[in-house]
Amino acid sequence: MPRVLVRAFALTLATLSVLAPALSGPAQAQTQAQADHALAWKTGREAEAIERRVEELLARMTLDEKIGQLNLTGRGDGFDPQWVATGRSGAVMNFIDPKEIRQLQDLVQTSRLKIPLIIGLDAIHGFATYFPQPIGQAATFDVRLIELAAYWTARETRAAGVNWTFAPMVDLTRDPRWGRVFEGAGEDVYLASVVAAARVRGYHHGGLATSVKHFVGYGEAEAGRDYNSVWIPVSKLLDRHVPAFQAAIRAGAFTAMTSLSAMNGLPATADRTLLTGLLKGRLGFRGFVVSDFASIEELIHHGVAADGAEAARKALIAGVDMDMFSGLFIRHLADEVRAERVPVAAIDEAVRRILRVKFHMGLFEAPPVDPAATAGQIITPPAQAAALEVAREAMVLLKNDGDILPIRPEIRSIAVVGALGMSDDDWQYGDNVGLPRIRRPTVQAELARQLGPNVRITADPAVTTICGTEFTDREATLKMAREADLIVAVLGEECEFMGESASRTRLDLPGVQGRLLDELVATGKPVVLVLKTARPLVLTDIAARVPAIIQSFHLGSQGRVAIGEVLTGRVNPSGKLPMSMPRSVGQIPVYYDHLPTGRPYRRGERYESSFVDERNDPLFPFGFGLSYTRFSLDQLALDSARVPLDGTISGSVRLSNLGARDGREVVQVYMRQRVASRSRPVRQLQAFEKVTVGAGANQTVRFSVPVEALAFHDDQGRRHLEPGLYDIFVGTDSRAELTATVTVMGR
Ligand code: NOJ
Repeated sequence: MPRVLVRAFALTLATLSVLAPALSGPAQAQTQAQADHALAWKTGREAEAIERRVEELLARMTLDEKIGQLNLTGRGDGFDPQWVATGRSGAVMNFIDPKEIRQLQDLVQTSRLKIPLIIGLDAIHGFATYFPQPIGQAATFDVRLIELAAYWTARETRAAGVNWTFAPMVDLTRDPRWGRVFEGAGEDVYLASVVAAARVRGYHHGGLATSVKHFVGYGEAEAGRDYNSVWIPVSKLLDRHVPAFQAAIRAGAFTAMTSLSAMNGLPATADRTLLTGLLKGRLGFRGFVVSDFASIEELIHHGVAADGAEAARKALIAGVDMDMFSGLFIRHLADEVRAERVPVAAIDEAVRRILRVKFHMGLFEAPPVDPAATAGQIITPPAQAAALEVAREAMVLLKNDGDILPIRPEIRSIAVVGALGMSDDDWQYGDNVGLPRIRRPTVQAELARQLGPNVRITADPAVTTICGTEFTDREATLKMAREADLIVAVLGEECEFMGESASRTRLDLPGVQGRLLDELVATGKPVVLVLKTARPLVLTDIAARVPAIIQSFHLGSQGRVAIGEVLTGRVNPSGKLPMSMPRSVGQIPVYYDHLPTGRPYRRGERYESSFVDERNDPLFPFGFGLSYTRFSLDQLALDSARVPLDGTISGSVRLSNLGARDGREVVQVYMRQRVASRSRPVRQLQAFEKVTVGAGANQTVRFSVPVEALAFHDDQGRRHLEPGLYDIFVGTDSRAELTATVTVMGR
């Protein structure tokens, strides 16, 4: 929940939470009719009744049936539907065809106990209608839109019979070399927590159970190399990595997935302190824990299990309830129980958690999927409208020298260059295949439609594949570019450059796209760069030469329409960076909420914390993003300069739109404890709100932060909340310069 309130709307925190799941116009109408799948943990008598049903069912199960519930199998080599009929697999994944899903559901009805299947899929940012990738959703800084994207993703996925998504990924992402940064919400703890909760709410509202992942620390892989070891002290774990999980759990996440990596020398999948102690104990997680894909088997490669039996045993005892795809639980656990190496109580506890989730999801009462009804429920107009709304807000305007955007009326011809601009397909690497696809107009077709016949649009992919491997016809491309008044280059990363196991050491434009951009700039024509990437790239050289840059990540089904709208000015960009963009790879990790050092940077000093060949600050900071209008902030005022430890720091600031266009701006409130028992970050985001302000108008924005949000942990896991001076910084990015100070008083 953002901790900034806009006075004009007189919202309180309570009303905001009611409004948060609100859906826009057409979406809202549909929701009432079809919210029958909405999921939430039941409470009170209903929850008690479920516990009784769980125990009754458990008492009727054989050991093999119990272990079958712990076994997640799925589409792929060797899958045998009979496992479902014989109770050997209580969960399946990677099915997207409702007919296949229906067959499996019917097979369950032939099994002895007829325990319904939980059916999983990586529905990360869409099913048939695609939304911006999660990093782009985070860039909207708009909680309602993030929730809306999850909601429609869930609605479509559920319509095909899938009832469980392996999302949200809430790993903190501070290393853009890691290929999975697109799946997260960026570098900031507070933003990641707000996004995590919004996504859980949205998925559940749309009928899809969530699996918050990857517990824990996966995003800290050394050197950004996927699956690599992570080293995280307890204080950092609790202060930075756990809060987003906690937010997802509070929002009702039904399941959690383990990390593939080893943290501090112990693979997460075998770490009882993490899974049972922290997740199920300290964080109070009631759902079940699923391993990541084959991560139980990988305990052997990690060198902590000699064979499959030991791997299965270690994972179960650590607190993994369900085995994704390694098959080791089903193969070994019964023998392990018989040999008394695994107590049956441990199996029972895992089964209990899985059955509990199935009951709370209402699976025992839910009708099977009706394959004939699926098509009418996907790619619907309200889902498309939602996808467009989110895509419009996800673009970050990084640069706009001389206000060359939006495209000026005097521009008579535009050359659109780059294979990513030509594509009319919204499929991205890693997305589900085999579903109906939305073929939308290309960027050039959208520009032509939006600008009308008086502007000549030419287009050339320039490179042979969307990964930019080779030039098609370099001379022809440049000739076309020279003849235009404006060049729009649509470049970026696709193919194997994004997603799992797609770590990079060079954060440049893949293939020949960098050279292409150089040559376009050399034509002397103004160049607008639209970047479609899955991560922040190093843009230092590019930003020095290209006057206008839009960071769009990958925007999903309606992305090309939204790009057209931003270029032509129908939409005023308002996205903000959820990750700092480095000046060079050597700066990484570069993030704004670092600790101070004993030798803070001072210009000209030799022995301070800096590089001899690079600046310390990023090229574009966290929270940064321009608009076609200009905003200013002033009149920062605190309600009280002294606040008790159990109180709330609150105040207001005036946001003015100084330009001639309406726009949206994100007011960001950062705080720092000036002197503490441990060194504290130089500032941390504590509240934000995205506000619409009309041209020439202003608005008072209120913020309120409970003091307890400023607590931190030590390496023994103890929580500290300390009296003293706290600095407050308010601004429109993480360099926020308006300041105030508050005294937090001891008890
Ligand atoms: C491995 C990935 O790490 C995880 O996030 C995903 O959900 C599973 N594969 C299933 O596809």
